[in-house]
Amino acid sequence: MDIATTRDLAAARGGAESGAPAPAFPIPEGVHAETVLEVEHYSPRVFSFRITRPASFRFRSGEFVMLGLPNAPKPVFRAYSITTPSWDDGLGFYSIKVPDGPLTRHLQKIRRGDTVLIRRKATGSLVLDALLPGRRLWLFATGTGIAPFASLVRDPETYEKFDQVVLTNTCREAAELAFGDRLAVEVEQDPLVGEFARGRMTYYSTVTREPYERTGRITDLIASGRLFTDLGLPPIDPAQDRAMICGSMAMIRDTRALMEGFGLVEGSNHEPGSFVVERAFVD
Ligand SMILES: Cc1cc2nc3c(=O)[nH]c(=O)nc-3n(C[C@H](O)[C@H](O)[C@H](O)COP(=O)(O)OP(=O)(O)OC[C@H]3O[C@@H](n4cnc5c(N)ncnc54)[C@H](O)[C@@H]3O)c2cc1C
Ligand SMILES: NC(=O)c1ccc[n+]([C@@H]2O[C@H](COP(=O)([O-])OP(=O)(O)OC[C@H]3O[C@@H](n4cnc5c(N)ncnc54)[C@H](OP(=O)(O)O)[C@@H]3O)[C@@H](O)[C@H]2O)c1
Repeated sequence: MDIATTRDLAAARGGAESGAPAPAFPIPEGVHAETVLEVEHYSPRVFSFRITRPASFRFRSGEFVMLGLPNAPKPVFRAYSITTPSWDDGLGFYSIKVPDGPLTRHLQKIRRGDTVLIRRKATGSLVLDALLPGRRLWLFATGTGIAPFASLVRDPETYEKFDQVVLTNTCREAAELAFGDRLAVEVEQDPLVGEFARGRMTYYSTVTREPYERTGRITDLIASGRLFTDLGLPPIDPAQDRAMICGSMAMIRDTRALMEGFGLVEGSNHEPGSFVVERAFVD
């Protein structure tokens, strides 16, 4: 067991701006204790935060990692997609707030200077390596499922591999679109990736539970063909289109069926294909 405590680390980094004393639980083995740099709340259901990045921490854009809080001798860890690209010197996350969720009922209260625990290994199948070469990349997200795509649309490699990237963002309410809406604007202004993304990244947002300029589940918009007519693009063609899907199990199941209907074949890290879902959900 590591003898450093979260209190020692917060003090060493000049942290604890939250004013809350860091609990003195030992940091479990195989875990980094990192400092919260920024927190932003978008709605009563979602927020984002950024933490320091351990010098040794490597990942591929689109991967996820296990996060926890130093609030118990055996902390609860949950899977989180990293929202920042692999070149970024911090690590970003986008989170749901489940009122009685074992992790997020506490995580939603974090403030700048607090400590977040992060396991050492990132993994996942929403990565460019799991896709065969293609011309257009579709990224289908619902809710916090936009998180891994926030990383991928800011990675220059995405634009080296694809001529066009289409990101769809569907949420229950318009306020929950804010993270994706801002991402779409910032990608084009980004000093590193902006020149690659400008004119090649298309953003398409819809809402399902309140009036909005565009409403409906992405699955219905694909099935009716409205997605393609709205964007002025042809329907998905297995010869040139590739897709990644991220959302709830039901959304993954229904979107996967639509992709297979277009003739796309599911891929993985071991066998690249023409679309991928997060394999963590596959039983
Ligand atoms: C590979 C993978 C990556 C993930 N990445 C993210 C991420 O980037 N951001 C994120 O917020 N969550 C993500 N999740 C979900 C996350 O691991 C936790 O479930 C979530 O943080 C809630 O944790 P909890 O302990 O508070 O509640 P849990 O006990 O984990 O969940 C309680 C209930 O809340 C609902 N729920 C959980 N997570 C979500 C969600 N994200 N959106 C809507 N409803 C949800 C479900 O009904 C669940 O049964 C991911 C899950 C997996 C498997
Ligand atoms: N790397 C990863 O694997 C990763 C990363 C981040 C998040 N996630 C997962 O993403 C999920 C986000 O939850 P969520 O999307 O259910 O959030 P949500 O906020 O409950 O729903 C978001 C949207 O999904 C729609 N939706 C629900 N079922 C659908 C279906 N079968 N087909 C198409 N659209 C559907 C909803 O429409 P209605 O209003 O009509 O229901 C709503 O507009 C969580 O399960 C989380 O674990 C995974």
